Amino acid sequence: MKQVDLLYTGKAKSVYRTDDPEVYIMKFRDDITAFDGEKKDTLEGKGRYNAEVSTFIFRYLEEHGIRTHYLSSIEPGVITVRNLTMIPLEVIVRNVAAGSIVRNYPFREGEPLDPPLIIIDYKSDAHHDPMLNDDLIFALGLATPEELDQIKALALAINELLSEYLDLRGITLIDFKMEFGRYNGEIVLGDEISMDSMRLWDKETGTSLDKDVYRFGKGDVMETYAGVAKRILSPPWGE
Ligand code: C5P
Repeated sequence: MKQVDLLYTGKAKSVYRTDDPEVYIMKFRDDITAFDGEKKDTLEGKGRYNAEVSTFIFRYLEEHGIRTHYLSSIEPGVITVRNLTMIPLEVIVRNVAAGSIVRNYPFREGEPLDPPLIIIDYKSDAHHDPMLNDDLIFALGLATPEELDQIKALALAINELLSEYLDLRGITLIDFKMEFGRYNGEIVLGDEISMDSMRLWDKETGTSLDKDVYRFGKGDVMETYAGVAKRILSPPWGE
């Protein structure tokens, strides 16, 4: 399989076509952005940590019956993925109130959300990712009611698997974002799940272990990413 040409370049990843139309190459770059692209930096090695964690999580989810786009790892920071037809939705599951939901609604930061909340945004830089509801999703033709049901069920199942996994490693999954695509009539998890797309707090101290460290200048981003990658890839405490 050979890389052919650049298909798409996002804020932190680039996707290339290959000579196999079913397979794309995804490169996790060292770029990091926040606040709708207003804050930007390049942090050497960040792409590798995100690729490593996302790959580990996707393989873990596959082992637990969740279909993902992940196929193989080529080199640090570079993976192959199935060519999904992506659905332009950012599906966010929230277990604890933090971030935009605290800014926009009368929730207190740290307040548990039980059952977890699913928030779906329209993935569109031009429209600044506005929040959708089911009627808007159908009116815009983004997904059918059956697909949306599947997406929500998958989002909650992934949340349960990940929350439990991270909890055993002393990490609380506060919230995270997923993107899905269509593949052979199925809804499949695409994009990435990494420190850029999850909000993670240390269970003991409440310290941020994710992109909030970059967003709000809470510490050394690379040190945080390296530490959390090690924790996620290690056996749980006490084993
Ligand atoms: O900013 P907000 O609180 O809405 O983010 C909720 C979660 O979704 C966070 O974990 C954040 O990192 C993730 N997110 C993302 N990409 C976006 C928006 C949010 O990964 N475009």
